[in-house]
Parts: sequence; structure tokens; C-alpha cells
Amino acid sequence: MIDVKKIRAQFPVYSKYPDTRFFDSAASAFKHQSVIDAMMDYLSFNGTNVHRGVYQLAAESTEKYEHARIDVANFINANTDEVIFTKSTTHAMNMLAHSLEDQISFNDEIIISELEHHSNLLPWERLAKTKGAHLKFIPLENGKITLKHFKKVLSPKTKLVITHTVSNVLGYQTPLIDMIKLSHMVNAVVIVDAAQSISHQKLDVKALDVDYVAFSGHKMYGPNGIGVLYGKKMLLDHLSPSEFGGEMVDKVLLSGPTYKEAPYKFEAGTPAIAEAIGLSGAISFLNEVGLENIYKHEKKLRKYVYEALKDEMGITIFNKDNNTTLFTFNIDGVHPHDTASFLDQKEVCVRAGHHCNQLTMKYLNQDSTVRVSFGPYNTLDDCNVLIESIKETRDFFVSLKGL
Ligand SMILES: Cc1ncc(COP(=O)(O)O)c(C=O)c1O
Repeated sequence: MIDVKKIRAQFPVYSKYPDTRFFDSAASAFKHQSVIDAMMDYLSFNGTNVHRGVYQLAAESTEKYEHARIDVANFINANTDEVIFTKSTTHAMNMLAHSLEDQISFNDEIIISELEHHSNLLPWERLAKTKGAHLKFIPLENGKITLKHFKKVLSPKTKLVITHTVSNVLGYQTPLIDMIKLSHMVNAVVIVDAAQSISHQKLDVKALDVDYVAFSGHKMYGPNGIGVLYGKKMLLDHLSPSEFGGEMVDKVLLSGPTYKEAPYKFEAGTPAIAEAIGLSGAISFLNEVGLENIYKHEKKLRKYVYEALKDEMGITIFNKDNNTTLFTFNIDGVHPHDTASFLDQKEVCVRAGHHCNQLTMKYLNQDSTVRVSFGPYNTLDDCNVLIESIKETRDFFVSLKGL
């Protein structure tokens, strides 16, 4: 059980908007006070660069930045030198796709699915096109990735398997452990987008034996502009950097440069220092409340909303199976943007659109959908307002259009 009232008090946004009913944490979550405090402290009382100056202030800044790396490593059970700070999941996947260019050849196969967020689809499409490799899509089963269908596309030609922990539209879980085991049997490298699970499901990179993972700070109650790319050290040692500049280089000679060891060779230029320190604050919050407690709470709320709406006329739910924390639906005959705007008038915030996932929309035969997501600050009262507002929206449009 979590103390929602206490948690809510730790998110200053509620002091300005006490009646907001926020159901869009899966896009970007509210920022926790510890994140704001950590960033304010660095920005107010330090503000110097990392890994450069030899004076005390710079040493303090470096210490905090590197401490954030240790916090991330502990959070996902990685070694510190396996944690690369990026701007976001999108940045991590783009960097990685560029870096892997010299390991992919003509006719190699890259396995992917229609469930990927564009940030974990487009970089791999570009890589496949550039190298003459083939993208193979895992056939879906009721919107889910199953081992049965994964086995159909996996082959000795598979070089990369691109997947995710949890889909950002339907919320379904990928059978990762077995997919990774099978992929390694054909020596394929597995790259996982953990953006949707990182804030409520334990990621243990060692237990998973996963090769690369990416996620973003802003979905963890942390800042924008900071993300993480995890990579197994032995893979990072053989991976070329894709961005070049200050502090990633070891020696610059007329004959060419040599690079630092991982993770530094992947962090060219001045990094997002305040944001990394803020991410540390977010991790403290998540550890304090406990991921499993947050997950339990969100699932309880999702079930509550689902049970209240599942038999309502005129509402199509796209992810009926109740093992997810997302509730994705449309009101029949009503554009999702109209639904979201109508709900906004009741101070209910939901996400409407294609969710940067046009292939999943096509799979669902929709242009867009409404997505409700939950956080540890959401209450049953929030859910009641949401449920009633959705019904009112439907009733309004039915009366307007005679639907
Ligand atoms: C599953 C998934 N992957 C990737 C992203 C992209 O994250 P970012 O915009 O932080 O790069 C998102 C964001 O919505 C997501 O849900």
C-alpha cells in the first residue's frame, strides 16, 4: 500500500493545480520535489562543467554527476561503466543504431515489431536501408508479441532483435526473458526499449542478460533532457562512438584520434549535468516508495477504471486484458482529440493521438486513440472523475450527433 496523500504532497504541481486529474504519466510524469531540489541545488550553487576543471567546484560537480551514474547502475543492476547518459530514449536508440552500422552487413536480418514507438523503429529502418539489411516484423497475436510468433522470424541470419518491455499503446508485456535466451542462441544482439516500464517494474539487466536497454528520465518523475543507454561492457568495448567532440577522446593526433573507454567515449560534449543529478533524485523517490508498490497501485486503479467502463455502450477498449497499467480506448464516432479536449474541461488530462506509434494504430485500424495512464499520485477520486467525465463526453456527443 502506498500513501497517496503523502506522495501527492511531494509533487509541487498539485499545489498550483490541486484539482487536476492527471492521467498522462506514460508520456511525461510530474516532477518530484527531490528532483527539483537536486537540480536547483546544482544550478544555484554550482553550475560548473564535469570532468574538466581541477578546482573544487568542478570536482564537486563531477562527483555529483558520477554519483548519478552509480545510482542508475544500482537501480538497474548494471556496472557503472555500462551506463551511458543520453538525452532520451530516442537519442539512445539513434546513437546505438549509428554505432552499430559497422556491425551490420548486406542481407542481415533485424527483428522488430509493429508495437515499437517511432523512436525504436525509425533508427532501425534507416540502419536496415543504409546497410541493405532486412527488417522482419514479428506477427502479433491480439496485439501481443508471443514466443510462438517470435520463433517464426528468428533465424541464423538475425543480427539484431529490437523490442520493448511494455508497449506504449496497449501496455502489454513482451516475453523478454525467453526472447533474449532464444536470440542469444543464434548470436543475435537484443536491444530493449524500457521507456514504459522503468517507472514501475524492476529492470535487472544482469538477470535478463539483455545486451542494450534505453529509457528516459521524464517518465520516471525526473527531468526532461536526460536518458540512459545501458550496454554490456564487452559490447560497449567494441562499439564505435557515433558522436564526436570534447571529452570523449583520448588522444588527438594528426594520424587520427583514439577514444576513451566506455561510457565516456559515448558522451561527447558537455552533458546534461543538472538533469543527471535530477534523475538521481527521481531514483531516490522510486526506491523509497518501491517500484512494486507503485505498480500494484497503478494496476489497481487501471482495473477500477476498466471495470467501470468495460460494459458501457459506445466505448471501445483496445487492451481488454487486465495485465497492463494503460487503458486505451475510443468513444465510438468521436475523434480522440475531441474526447481529450472535452475531458480537459473537467481538468482531466489524457493523451490522444497516434502515440508516436502509427504502425500500432494501423494494426488497430484507428487513426488515433485515447490513452489513460496512471502514477503513484493518482487517487480513486481521480478515477471517479475520469470515469464520469468519459461517460458525459460520450453522452454529449451522442446527443449532439444522434450517434
Ligand atoms: C515505449 C516508448 N519508447 C520511447 C519513447 C520515447 O521517449 P523520449 O521521447 O523520451 O525519447 C516513448 C515515449 O513516449 C515510449 O513510450
